[in-house]
Amino acid sequence: AKLKLGVIVGSNRRESINRQLANALAKLGSDAFEVKFLQIDDLPLYNPDDEAAYPAQAQRLKSDIEASDALLFVTPEYGRTFPTVLKNALDWAARPWGKNSFPGKPGAVIGTSGGAISSALAQHALRAVLGTQGVHVMGGEAYIQFKPDLIDADGNVTDENVTGFLKAYVDSFASFAGKLAAK
Ligand code: FNR
Repeated sequence: AKLKLGVIVGSNRRESINRQLANALAKLGSDAFEVKFLQIDDLPLYNPDDEAAYPAQAQRLKSDIEASDALLFVTPEYGRTFPTVLKNALDWAARPWGKNSFPGKPGAVIGTSGGAISSALAQHALRAVLGTQGVHVMGGEAYIQFKPDLIDADGNVTDENVTGFLKAYVDSFASFAGKLAAK
């Protein structure tokens, strides 16, 4: 059976290049993974006062994470770290105390930006937070410098070298997640 992969894109922008990258990865990994994109752009701003009546969107995110065998995070970089919309989602998913949805999940982090060091610092920061929350984060580095037309409207990567890199990345994540996923 295919592994259930929950994909979390750290952007709420309509034309997000990270969402485009996530679509491309979903396509390249479709042999190994059954992909679900987990929505985070409708979550209220996290506030401990609201835990008593957990918002439905946040409960949905927790259930989606818990139902996933593996999690793929595709993140932009804002101010040399990952965006607020993603941190907000992580906070909801990790709460309430004692009911963190993350522990034991195999995870991978990747991202893109137009910048020369791509989303390297955002990914670095995200790995630290995910590790703290109990995600088993795959090692390695995947910094994709985005160029216009790198990914076409069907989610196909137009550059051969990048395609090869991304295919190897999803294949190694499938292998990593397959070993760790609780069965
Ligand atoms: C950026 N951008 C950016 N890029 C980068 O490489 N390093 C950075 O620190 C930042 N910081 C940053 C802050 C804010 C507030 C914005 C709006 C943008 C540019 C960023 O990479 C670009 O907007 C991407 O398109 C964002 O990814 P999505 O939303 O298209 O997936």
